[in-house]
Amino acid sequence: MLRIKPGEQRDVTITVNGKRMTAPATSRMMLADFLRHGLGLYGTHVGCEHGVCGACTVIIDGRPTRSCMTYAVQFDGVEITTVEGLADEDGTLNELQDAFRRHHALQCGFCTAGILMSATLFLAANDAPTEEEIRDMLSGHICRCTGYDGMVKAILDVAENSQ
Ligand code: FES
Ligand code: FES
Repeated sequence: MLRIKPGEQRDVTITVNGKRMTAPATSRMMLADFLRHGLGLYGTHVGCEHGVCGACTVIIDGRPTRSCMTYAVQFDGVEITTVEGLADEDGTLNELQDAFRRHHALQCGFCTAGILMSATLFLAANDAPTEEEIRDMLSGHICRCTGYDGMVKAILDVAENSQ
């Protein structure tokens, strides 16, 4: 973590989706704002800005992290995965993204990036989840459009195809 005084601005370097990227951040700049406005990675969304909706979730050190609740300067030198890191370089969707598409698991898409990040970690830890376990994981995210059923089907689909 960078040592920084209130109001000061310093360069923060983060390895995002395997690429080292540097941009200036002020002492109280949130990681979500740093990713979006500092690094131009607008896939991470900001909804509630107080840790409730899950839209801003990214993966840091193998854990889902609310990027609206953490300061960018805390993560200097750290590796982060955002939703931009899921698809191939040519834009080909990964298995989970494609399952979301096929099962109509999104409408406006505002919640989707955060849910994909949590679901990615969830499936990595549990390749044969029950519907109840999936719904429990999804309870950390707010989606106002879909009713969650398509997401459950998509995650079950990926889990079944990985057996
Ligand atoms: S924007 Fe971070 S949890 Fe809602
Ligand atoms: S798809 Fe609109 S909030 Fe989830």
